[in-house]
Amino acid sequence: NLLTATGAAGLAGLAVGAGAGHALADRRLGEENEHALAPARSRAGDRDGMPPALRSPTPSQVQLVAVDLRADAGEPTREAARRVLRTWGREIRALHEQGLHTRVEGAPTQGLLPASLGITLGLGASLLDRAGAGDRIPPHMEEIPAFATDSLEPAWCGGDLLLHVAAEDPVVASSAVGHLVGAVAGDVRPRWSLPGFQRSAAAADDPTATPRNLMGQIDGTVNPRSSDPLFGPQVLAAHPEPSLAWMDGGSYLVVRRIRMLLDDWYSLDPGDREAVIGRRLSTGAPLGGGAEDDLPDLAAAGEDGEPVIPRDAHIRLASPENTLGARMLRRGYSYDLGWDAGGHRQAGLIFTAWQADPRTGFTPVQRALDEGGDALHPYVRHEGSALFAVPPVRDGDPWAAHDLFP
Ligand code: HEM
Repeated sequence: NLLTATGAAGLAGLAVGAGAGHALADRRLGEENEHALAPARSRAGDRDGMPPALRSPTPSQVQLVAVDLRADAGEPTREAARRVLRTWGREIRALHEQGLHTRVEGAPTQGLLPASLGITLGLGASLLDRAGAGDRIPPHMEEIPAFATDSLEPAWCGGDLLLHVAAEDPVVASSAVGHLVGAVAGDVRPRWSLPGFQRSAAAADDPTATPRNLMGQIDGTVNPRSSDPLFGPQVLAAHPEPSLAWMDGGSYLVVRRIRMLLDDWYSLDPGDREAVIGRRLSTGAPLGGGAEDDLPDLAAAGEDGEPVIPRDAHIRLASPENTLGARMLRRGYSYDLGWDAGGHRQAGLIFTAWQADPRTGFTPVQRALDEGGDALHPYVRHEGSALFAVPPVRDGDPWAAHDLFP
């Protein structure tokens, strides 16, 4: 398990290259090992199939690229879909195992370590539809409903296929993306792409600490841990039925491109910023609590009788108590594209939510935030949205579902 190519090669590379990285890499290896020792349940509990994007800790760089099959291929779309998936399956495996410069002479990664490169492949419902496999679309992939607070740009939504490429190094990530898109350029057209980042291991005192987003909040505290028995049922898809076996043990990924209105945000007093979320900026502790991992006391009231965690606080509205127990694994990356021609900062959160079923994960939570008047909403804009099925990795093959397009 640990010895899949990205895990072993990437982590070993980090240990050699990072100078003070031995302790860090040891900690990472320890964490991965814990996963490896977790008892297997059904296939949905089989961590071997977990997409690289779900490994922890998350590398500091990510690139998301959504592509569409070209409509002008002049042959059945199914052929093109099959060709793209076969090529990506082969190339992703080779990049994980050997690195780009062993495949492409003169590649930018010459002299670089593997840097924990992890490439994850997602399939949109539109791909299956266009390739004549509409009957294999899981009901889990029903379209995410529109929300009153959406500001979606069609150009930043959807996609037939997604590449999620993460690495500790931006050159490794960027050149892998370039290689993979280039390898299928005759069959696909990029639809949208977004590079993102998190604090790097070099800058983090404690690389296992929950990272902060560009609003300065500790973001990702309440998340299923992979050592948690509920991780499988909440995050990994269970599909015993043969027609959906291609997704058994995979995960459904919701991506939202969420711009942050950072000038407005930082014009708030720090206390007001804390009330918006319901947690302290310094420690991430819930208001009324003392430490990040303390359970929020949603019933606590102050001397004035008002709730300590405000009625419209983000964590109250998003809590399982308010969303019929909805659960997902949230992995946030920041993006920062500078300022557009109109002087608006194009920066925010690449919100990714991984779950066994978006209908009982992302959707009810977003509905609760939308309808409940989330106090965070005036400071963010949901500008992009997409849903992908991420099949399980089998024997190192990110695309093992070859029977999907017979
Ligand atoms: C919790 C920030 C969007 C779902 C939190 C927390 C922060 C945060 C700081 C508290 C710490 C933690 O548990 O991670 C943000 C920001 C967003 C955003 C800045 C947008 C830019 C969303 C969206 C959803 C979501 C779109 C899902 C539809 C949740 C959930 C929790 C949470 C489920 C945990 C609630 C609990 O305590 O049980 N968010 N969030 N967030 N957020 Fe968000």
